[in-house]
Amino acid sequence: MTVTDSSQNDPASFDSSDPLAKFRERFAIPLGVDGQEAIYFTGNSLGLMPRAVPEYVFQELKDWATLGVEGHIQAKNPWLAYHEFLTEPMARIIGAKPIETVVMNSLTVNLHLLMVSFYRPTNERRKIVIEKGAFPSDQYAVKSQIGFHTSASEPGAVATGFLSKAEGNPVATARGSDSIQPANAGGSDLIELKPRDGEPTLWTEDILETIEREGDSIALILLGGVNYYTGQGFDMKAIAEAGHKAGAVVGFDLAHAAGNIELKMHDWDVDFAAWCSYKYLNGGPGAVGGAFVHERHAADFDLPRFAGWWGHDKNTRFLMGSEFRPIPGAEGWQISNPPILQMAALRASLEIFEEAGMAALTEKSRKLTGYLETLINDIADERISVITPREPEHRGCQLSIRVRGGDKSLHERIVSRGVLADWREPDVIRVAPVPLYNSFGDVFRFAGILKECLR
Ligand SMILES: Cc1ncc(COP(=O)(O)O)c(C=O)c1O
Repeated sequence: MTVTDSSQNDPASFDSSDPLAKFRERFAIPLGVDGQEAIYFTGNSLGLMPRAVPEYVFQELKDWATLGVEGHIQAKNPWLAYHEFLTEPMARIIGAKPIETVVMNSLTVNLHLLMVSFYRPTNERRKIVIEKGAFPSDQYAVKSQIGFHTSASEPGAVATGFLSKAEGNPVATARGSDSIQPANAGGSDLIELKPRDGEPTLWTEDILETIEREGDSIALILLGGVNYYTGQGFDMKAIAEAGHKAGAVVGFDLAHAAGNIELKMHDWDVDFAAWCSYKYLNGGPGAVGGAFVHERHAADFDLPRFAGWWGHDKNTRFLMGSEFRPIPGAEGWQISNPPILQMAALRASLEIFEEAGMAALTEKSRKLTGYLETLINDIADERISVITPREPEHRGCQLSIRVRGGDKSLHERIVSRGVLADWREPDVIRVAPVPLYNSFGDVFRFAGILKECLR
């Protein structure tokens, strides 16, 4: 199947020859206007619900009702090791070994837990490299980690995170300490990667050049695999290589990458990664997230970590000893026992990924998003431009459309026509045709609506 100029008006033929088209009916598609299915292009924000989710969740509710605490062992899917049902499918999605993968917590929580182990600043090597345009939670997380280390290393100081005294930090107020760090505590320990003047996205060569230049001073490089705003996908392999050459630790936030692009966390030699499962992984609102820790750190029990009983050796966990013995691998970073109902929902989705496979999904994704890009460019309206990189290897399914002058009314008009897309301040409409459940027909209808709304 190829998308050519002459066949642009025939999305039905693309859909009929799409081997993944059958997966659409496995998802509940929200309604838009006039009782029609919405054009759902916000799978980059919250993925759709697999129709099997109620059955998966109900199984656990039923076992809870009939077995009570015995469900930990006797449930059809015993709860004690429930997270293990998710490990292998998740490992395949991120290109990792099972020992490197665990499903737990939420994304920002996992970033913090992993930074406890992998951000180890010293006097000489203490900086963190992030994107200037990183998702705010990542910025808050790294700044608060820097603030934590900065203040903790000062005699008599307290760890404050990013809250300043002026903002009413209760710890500061209570102690009346002058050593409280300001809101941008450790700001000088942050290296922010900015696009070149007038450009929306970063050049790989600029990222690598910064890493090389700042080399000795970098403790950690923490970038998104795919940027949430621009949709730019980074060359994670090259960044990991450059980071390691500089002596730094390299981690990625895969929120917009997991289930969206093909990943090879193990082969790319990334140190750690964290992601959420409510976007492309369709685990549901607030779904449980994931963490990757490269195999070479699996048995490094000297790494500092925040411990909890679920990370303790499974054979002796219930002996209730006071000495923490971490499970080798990513599971050793677990803290609490897992949320079974959330995991049941995610399991329903991961089974669809197992059937579809990331390679086939990526292939369709490139066609679907390429088709969308062609149709948007054909509208040829100077008020809009796609800021996402053109090269398929530098993006996933999302296209970010910049609206000149930040006129939000265009977004409002397309939404009123049955499109679910989102607006990100100051001037971007994000649209993400997801290969598991979006069709070429969706893309074609969207382009027609966009054109009309621009009229
Ligand atoms: C790139 C990125 N990082 C962090 C977060 C925050 O995730 P959570 O609320 O699960 O911690 C999000 C949420 O959308 C995100 O897109």
